[in-house]
Amino acid sequence: MALSNSRTGYGLVAQIFHWVTAILILMLLPLGLVMTDLPQSTDTEIADKVWLFSLHKTLGITVFAVAIARVLWALASPRPAPLHPDRRLETFVAEAVHWSLYGAILLTPLAGWVHHAASTGFAPIWWPLGQDLPFVPKSEALARLAGFAHYVLAMLMIVAVGLHIAGAMKHVVIDRDGTLARMLPFGRARTVSVPVGATAPHRGPAFAALALFALLFGGIAVSALRNEPAATTSLPQATAPVSASGWSVDHAKSRLGIVITQMGAPVEGRFKAWSAEIDFDPDALDAARVKVVVDIASIDLGGVTDQAKGADFLDAGAHPQAVFEAATFRRTGDTRFEVEGTLSLHGETRPVILPFDLVIDGPTATMTGRTTLNRIDFGVGAKGFADEGSVKFAVEVVTEVVATRAEGDG
Ligand code: HEM
Ligand code: HEM
Repeated sequence: MALSNSRTGYGLVAQIFHWVTAILILMLLPLGLVMTDLPQSTDTEIADKVWLFSLHKTLGITVFAVAIARVLWALASPRPAPLHPDRRLETFVAEAVHWSLYGAILLTPLAGWVHHAASTGFAPIWWPLGQDLPFVPKSEALARLAGFAHYVLAMLMIVAVGLHIAGAMKHVVIDRDGTLARMLPFGRARTVSVPVGATAPHRGPAFAALALFALLFGGIAVSALRNEPAATTSLPQATAPVSASGWSVDHAKSRLGIVITQMGAPVEGRFKAWSAEIDFDPDALDAARVKVVVDIASIDLGGVTDQAKGADFLDAGAHPQAVFEAATFRRTGDTRFEVEGTLSLHGETRPVILPFDLVIDGPTATMTGRTTLNRIDFGVGAKGFADEGSVKFAVEVVTEVVATRAEGDG
């Protein structure tokens, strides 16, 4: 059979493109809907869920690549003429649905990919591609927006595929014509008779589909603007109380980060709300002391934030705060120090040593420190995640604190 389309039927290339995409889409839609609702309370459940997310993303990228090739091919080949050009409304709707499907098979995976690249995700795409996209920064807000667009486009696709399949079935059951047969590589009626002079309407249906996407994106943009979280966090805990001879933390320049290892891949996050009382003079270490209070619910760990806060891990409901208190400081180098104190986290209190670098420049001090905790020491994940199968025991804590000397301090 011919590779290219003719006025009467689809060529082999268009048919292969059609059915490969159709099979992938008919797998991806239910997979997407089912995977998001799966439980993630145990090691095995998490591993299964991550695997299904990776499968979904990998098949989704495949659809994207096939869709680009397919749309280019469709634009370059003649379109078979409609079988019933006299039924103008039906032909118009059928063509508008086709254009919507072309748009959706390009835009849905693209939105999914942007969502993936903007998130601090944990389920990788299996293709040997970078997990990031150029021009797509890691951003919670962008990830949320792209995730919403992905959802809306997927819902549009469900409606369009539903109409499309219903239409195809109508041709088989009611019209009993050759519409489906000319899309089947092994169908009996590979070419069907088409009324002389009939052509598929192009512009009208294509514009209708374009208007639909413009409307959808307008709606997505408006809802994004409405839900925009109030300007940068002014969380009450984020202001540091200043002690008598102390330092006040510049939260905009400081960061309390953590790095966990899930399914072999590092997942970076941070606590957004914490406060620190710091009494520190490098020349009077005996008098130095520090107290840091962390709001556990303020953790941001990308795609696994809710899980980290939940009962299986940090259990923010039962243990809303972590407190680090220390009064033992040692100088280990020119700008190197270490502080030894206790960390109360998740209902357990354990000794912790934090080595750090400190540079004091006029009234400003910059401290960078890094230490590794064992989550099991604090009973974090001790029930459902007592081995290192999905989440490693070691959790790195990375602190970057910029503080200014409190006024009146000598
Ligand atoms: C044509 C291809 C695709 C289709 C039809 C599709 C469909 C869906 C559907 C129906 C959902 C569930 C609805 C939702 O919760 O948003 C979903 C979720 C998701 N998809 Fe896709 N998808 C496609 C491609 C991709 C690609 C390429 C990626 C990433 C590289 C991706 C990543 C995701 C993610 C991360 C979710 C979960 C979102 C969440 O947690 O809310 N998808 N997809
Ligand atoms: C069981 C599922 C499906 C059936 C029975 C089916 C049937 C058909 C038939 C009979 C045609 C030819 C229409 C004509 O000649 O006027 C067609 C074309 C088309 N179908 Fe489907 N289809 C299915 C699934 C899908 C899916 C999932 C998509 C995409 C998401 C899709 C996208 C298209 C497009 C864009 C066309 C226009 C021609 C082309 O570019 O191939 N179809 N389909």
